[in-house]
Amino acid sequence: MAEQVSTNGAPMLRVEGLKRQFGGLMAVNGVSLSVAPGERRAIIGPNGAGKTTLFNLISGELHPSAGRVYLGGEDVTALPNFERARRGLARTFQRNNLFLGLTVRENVRLAVQARRKVASRLWTPVDHLREVGAEADAVLAELGLAEQAHTPVRNLSYGEQRQVEIAIALATRPRVLLLDEPTAGMSPAETTAMTHLVAALPRDMTLLIIEHDMDVVFALADRITVLHYGEVLAEGAPQEVSGDPRVAEVYMGLESA
Ligand SMILES: Nc1ncnc2c1ncn2[C@@H]1O[C@H](COP(=O)(O)OP(=O)(O)OP(=O)(O)O)[C@@H](O)[C@H]1O
Ligand SMILES: [Mg+2]
Repeated sequence: MAEQVSTNGAPMLRVEGLKRQFGGLMAVNGVSLSVAPGERRAIIGPNGAGKTTLFNLISGELHPSAGRVYLGGEDVTALPNFERARRGLARTFQRNNLFLGLTVRENVRLAVQARRKVASRLWTPVDHLREVGAEADAVLAELGLAEQAHTPVRNLSYGEQRQVEIAIALATRPRVLLLDEPTAGMSPAETTAMTHLVAALPRDMTLLIIEHDMDVVFALADRITVLHYGEVLAEGAPQEVSGDPRVAEVYMGLESA
C-alpha cells in the first residue's frame, strides 16, 4: 500500500534539536529523534509534555523556534504542511476533523481527490472520478469500513469515526503516518478494534503514535520515546523503557495513580 520506500539508508524521519516556544513556555525543548523506515514508534509522556506540539512541528502545522526536520533524508524544515504531505507524510489529529454530514465514502473521496490534485495532471475528468471512487473504496475495504461507506459520519459510533480519520490519512498513501492518541476516549472494545486496525497497517509504513494506553503502546511499538517537559526523557525498546525508573516516576506512576 505504501509507496516504495527509498531513503538511501537515511532514517525515514529525523528531527534534530527541535524547539518551540509559546510565550515563556518551552513546549518542545531540544528534541532529537530518528525513526527508521517501517519502524513503529510510540511517543508517550504526561499531559502537556509537548507530544502534540512535536507532531505539529513534524507535519508543518507549526514552525520550530529552532532545529530541523528531515523526511527521507530531505530537510523539510522550511516547507509548509502540504509540501510535507506531498512527500508522503500524513497525520490524524487529537480531535475529530471530519465532515459529519457527509458519508464515510465521501469523506475519504475528498482526501483522495485532494492528493490527486497535487500529485497528477495526467487524468481526464471522467477517469479521475472513477479512479478516485475506486481508491476510496479500496482504502475502506482495507480498513474493514466498506459496510459503513454510505453512512453519514455523524451516525457512526465514536470509535468508527476515529477509524474514518485513519482512512482519510491513508487515502494519501503516506510513507509516514502520525497518529495523535488514536484510542483517546474509546471504550475497551473500541480500543481493541483500533489497535488491531493499526497493527494491520502495511509493515513498510513508518508510524509515530502518541498514546496514553500502555497496553496499546506495548501491542504496537517497536520503540518508545518518552517526552517530559518538552525533552526526551528516555528512548528504547518497550521493555527497556518500561523498566526505566525515571519513566515510572514521571509517567507510569501518574497512570496508575
Ligand atoms: N498553540 C499554543 N499556544 C500556547 N501554548 C500551547 C499551544 N499549544 C500547546 N501549548 C502548550 O504547550 C505545552 C505542550 O502541549 P502539547 O499539546 O504539545 O502537549 P501534549 O503532550 O500533547 O499533551 P496531552 O497529552 O494533554 O495531549 C502545554 O503546556 C500546552 O498548554
Ligand atoms: Mg496532545
